Amino acid sequence: MKRIGMLTSGGDCQGLNSTLRGVAKALYEEYGKEVEIYGFKDGYKGLIQGEYRLMSSSDFSGILTIGGTILGTSRQPFKNMRDKDENGVDKVTKMIQTYNDMKLDCLVILGGNGTTKTANLLREEGLNIISLPKTIDNDLWGTEVTFGYQTAVDIATDVLDKVHSTATSHSRVFLVEIMGHGAGWLTLSAGIAGGADIILIPEIPYDLDAVVYELEERRRHGHAFSIVAVAEGAISKEEAKMSKKEFKAARAKMTDPSISFRLARELGERCSQEIRVVNPGHIQRGGGPDAYDRILTTRLGTGAARLIKHKQYGNMVAIRNNEIVAVPLSEVAGKLKTVPVDNDLVQAARDIGISFGDESP
Ligand code: F6P
Repeated sequence: MKRIGMLTSGGDCQGLNSTLRGVAKALYEEYGKEVEIYGFKDGYKGLIQGEYRLMSSSDFSGILTIGGTILGTSRQPFKNMRDKDENGVDKVTKMIQTYNDMKLDCLVILGGNGTTKTANLLREEGLNIISLPKTIDNDLWGTEVTFGYQTAVDIATDVLDKVHSTATSHSRVFLVEIMGHGAGWLTLSAGIAGGADIILIPEIPYDLDAVVYELEERRRHGHAFSIVAVAEGAISKEEAKMSKKEFKAARAKMTDPSISFRLARELGERCSQEIRVVNPGHIQRGGGPDAYDRILTTRLGTGAARLIKHKQYGNMVAIRNNEIVAVPLSEVAGKLKTVPVDNDLVQAARDIGISFGDESP
């Protein structure tokens, strides 16, 4: 009998359920009644507290298109994993205990950067781990695409499309704040797909003068409206020069609710047009996966099942050159994949006249 545990950890995204389904269906196909799949509740929390349930094949039926995660999730910061409880036992020890008590053959972990770090820690402790790359931010090193990302691009693009019509009618500047944590992938792709005029991403610090200049230039050329796609992690050139400590202190003093509101205020003092902010927020993570993510998660999930079959533990299942591959967790953990400034997407955007607000007038 094979005993497999599964958990989803960190912020949710589209495609978690379809990934779980891919893993489970392939395992049931391969092993029939000779496999038991256990689902942990709310990510690592369930593993730490021993909260899990034996799943059945019907749990994985009808969930291909459903958003969120049937297992629940939680954020479990890596730095707290070694904190001891009142009995002097840390969380890592508890997780290992649960795994051993349950006599698991493998634990399948769906998550982003923080989750993958912890997955690697458990691997180092001798557990059989396979991870799957989840996040709308697409910032996981080792895979070209993470699941959830493409669906989030579709959603953010739809927001930009809708904003376009009202921006045009009112001749306004719209700042649309797009998620992505410290990476600009989501903003960059949605910005291109949604026809943004200016794209601000963390990897290319902006210059306020340049942004003002671009907006005014557009107006001078007869474009009464402008759409600015702003990554939530966008930073100014001044901020880019700061140390981490200085940056944190400066941001702590910021009274605006977010970067786009700050920009709206700063631009409002210098631009002649009316400015509005749109923040689609967690809607970008909501709902079910698009067709691309349904296919990707089915491939990644079944890839995980194949690794289990061949006992190739200690890997993250990834997609590279449109092939499903296994990447050692030791190579992935702790590495962020941000947008290279000479990336082809950046180049294509520049080629069609999209500004990154970095070229001083
Ligand atoms: O990592 C996914 C993500 O949606 C980021 O884009 C965003 O910064 C963050 O999670 C939001 O986290 P929370 O759901 O905890 O508010």
